[in-house]
Amino acid sequence: MHIAFLNPQGNFDPKDSYWTEHPDFGGQLVYVKEIAIAMENLGHKVDIITRQIIDPEWLEFASSIDHYPDAKNLRILRFPCGPKTFLPKEQLWSYLGTEWTQNILKYYHQENQVPDAFTAHYADGGISAAIISSKTKIPFTFTGHSLGAQKLDKLLRTNTSLEQLDSQYHFARRIMAERISMNRASKVITSTNQERFEQYGHIAYKGAIDPADDTRFAVIPPGVNREIFSEVEKPDDKWVDQRINQAIKRDISQKRLSLPLVLASSRLDEKKNHVGIVKAFAKSEQLQHTANLAIAVRNLKDPLRDYHQLNVSERAIFNKIISLIRKSNLWGMVTAFPLNSQKELASAYRVLAKRKSVFALTSLYEPFGLANLEAMSCGLPVVVTRNGGPSESLKEGNRELGVLVDPSNPDDIAQGLLRLLSSKAEWNRFSSAGLKRVVFKYTWEKTAEGYLTTIEAIIKNPYQSINIPIHPFFLDPSPQNDIPLSMLANLMGRSK
Ligand code: F6P
Repeated sequence: MHIAFLNPQGNFDPKDSYWTEHPDFGGQLVYVKEIAIAMENLGHKVDIITRQIIDPEWLEFASSIDHYPDAKNLRILRFPCGPKTFLPKEQLWSYLGTEWTQNILKYYHQENQVPDAFTAHYADGGISAAIISSKTKIPFTFTGHSLGAQKLDKLLRTNTSLEQLDSQYHFARRIMAERISMNRASKVITSTNQERFEQYGHIAYKGAIDPADDTRFAVIPPGVNREIFSEVEKPDDKWVDQRINQAIKRDISQKRLSLPLVLASSRLDEKKNHVGIVKAFAKSEQLQHTANLAIAVRNLKDPLRDYHQLNVSERAIFNKIISLIRKSNLWGMVTAFPLNSQKELASAYRVLAKRKSVFALTSLYEPFGLANLEAMSCGLPVVVTRNGGPSESLKEGNRELGVLVDPSNPDDIAQGLLRLLSSKAEWNRFSSAGLKRVVFKYTWEKTAEGYLTTIEAIIKNPYQSINIPIHPFFLDPSPQNDIPLSMLANLMGRSK
């Protein structure tokens, strides 16, 4: 088959530039790249279609075609979409239905070969696929990744007005694009059942899709790159071990040097709740006696002493961490060091598994929770938020594959960590069960196979019952066509 991924935001290049350094270069890019490569390995022709950026600050994305090494049948195709400069994803809406999709269709018609199906990612990819499909009848799948209504709900709780939020994030356009995408896609793909029912069951999507309708959904979990995240020792492990040891010697008090570590390695983002883990240490003397806390911070040599390079919101989080450490006398129990790539992360997980340490991800909500599967894939057992995807991926009937905790309760976090840290038998059991779980259930090859089966089925039998028209704004983004705030308020079930 010939399959094309529509992913206008972020960008792709053989070096994975900017991954995790910018909000549009996060998990979604990893997801698309890994599935695309796995499909190519399975013998299919694959295109990842994205935006062409001609900008001295983003030099990697200027060429119209690019390739990953060893994936001859996979192309990265970049098409002009609005201004030449880099644009954050919130500013793409006016250029998708007009310029970007037209450039894509022109290209394929010149090649004289259109893809058999599109797979669209996020609302911006979704609306583009809906427009292309309305013109060509090529079927598409839609993977929302993160839906606007839930993000808007969260932001509204900060007492910011709907008007302000819409002018900053363009929620009216995004939620309208999502409604059109989910309504017109032949299949909507989610990572978990929870995502399907919770996210797509939001009132803002009423009339666009019914989350209880099995014919509209395929639940396909994402995978772990086992070439990077594996339990097998790699040459890089040596110097990552040295780096961690140097940080420990620098930050941890002498008598605690041999204790295991609790590693928090996610992006510094409020929703990842690093502060919750520090609070767990602050509250539990037993935890303080049992382990040290390690915080990985990208690109900073000595984060506990110098974090001026962080951006404003990251700095605010680190300020909180430091003041908690100070207030609760945790100096000498906490270390911090950089882990700058997926390979370095994987090495750190292996090195820490040898020290009988634990990975912690206590996010307030984790839509899927790939990071904990990556740690498990290296043999490092995990303590993870019970809110979101991990409650499905870390449980099979009564069998636990990781320890689930309530992220809003520092005592529960401490108990969860201690369960692994204070029993060798428990640590060993979770380490080996976690690794097996990833190998049998969560590889990108399995995810790609799930997509391929779904795509084959929609090619044979595309979805017909479309009832939401493409909003005129996406075809002619003039101000009089824009989606009014009153419509957004209506969709969200509230008055402006
Ligand atoms: O790649 C970044 C990502 O993981 C994407 O899925 C999505 O673009 C974003 O994070 C979350 O989007 P938002 O905050 O707009 O809901």
